[in-house]
Amino acid sequence: MIPRIINLPKILDKRGNLSFFEHPNQLPFEIARTYWIYDVPGGESRGSHAFKQQQEFIIALSGSFDVIIHNGKEEKKFSLNRSYYGLYIPNMYWRKLENFSTNSLALIVSDQTYNESDYIRDFDEFKKLAHEK
Ligand code: TYD
Repeated sequence: MIPRIINLPKILDKRGNLSFFEHPNQLPFEIARTYWIYDVPGGESRGSHAFKQQQEFIIALSGSFDVIIHNGKEEKKFSLNRSYYGLYIPNMYWRKLENFSTNSLALIVSDQTYNESDYIRDFDEFKKLAHEK
């Protein structure tokens, strides 16, 4: 599997719109953990790591930011700026979140609980492991 945008249902309503995701209909994995990133100062970036096993799904619930994905050979930029789609990232992809707008809110769901030993935080080590895949 490769990183891809997953479009979510959008229930339009004059009282306010509603979107959702559930497994297995929209999300290709079962959720074990949810976290969010907020109050990001201008010019800051988050992420800059890959996961050996973990998969994630990232949504810009509010505002906008870019997710730069690297597969060990080349990079690709996804701009997230709507709450009715998100970016699915399989394991073994380097990701960097940057260019956060004021008051942006990133919601991230993962198929695993927090486990520091699943992180690859060194880009050269990631490239080596990605090439061995
Ligand atoms: P990290 O994943 O490096 O942040 P990001 O990728 O969003 O820039 O996590 C930063 C710190 O927060 C790290 O020291 C561990 C802690 N943390 C948890 O305790 N639980 C979690 O679910 C996450 C994502 C991070």
